[in-house]
Amino acid sequence: MALRTIITDRDETLRKISRPVASFDKRLHQLLDDMIETLHKAGGAGLAAPQVGVLRRVCIVEIEEGDLIEMVNPTIVGTVGEQTGAEACLSIPGEMGIVSRPMTVTVHAFDRYGKAFDVIGEEFKARAFCHELDHLDGRLYTDVAQRMMSEEEYALEEASREKK
Ligand code: CO
Repeated sequence: MALRTIITDRDETLRKISRPVASFDKRLHQLLDDMIETLHKAGGAGLAAPQVGVLRRVCIVEIEEGDLIEMVNPTIVGTVGEQTGAEACLSIPGEMGIVSRPMTVTVHAFDRYGKAFDVIGEEFKARAFCHELDHLDGRLYTDVAQRMMSEEEYALEEASREKK
């Protein structure tokens, strides 16, 4: 495994549309393993391949330790309800915005071996699914945010997250 560099929002790679994965091979496994290591080091809730400079439809979400979800060629197949709250991105350090997302999201995806599965996320996990899948189409949360948070709001949100 190897750490990869997370690119930040001025890089136009983040704006490109990723291509589907065609072979579920060693290269894909290496990419996923590296993304996991990179996410753990960075301490975020999710990471998409374009954030490490690879324009492939691959992302990972880990809301709670031990609940890591690898998604290859994911698509959202169902949404229910709505939630509005704070959102951040490892590619946009030091900022947060207020974003509305569905309350429940069902994603159809493939695992690293090419096996299809459906996964349902609620609340923060639903938010993470939407956020990571958006990366695969070159969209950032700042594009859909109602507004960005002030420095004070950011500090409060950071403090409340650290307590958890
Ligand atoms: Co992000």
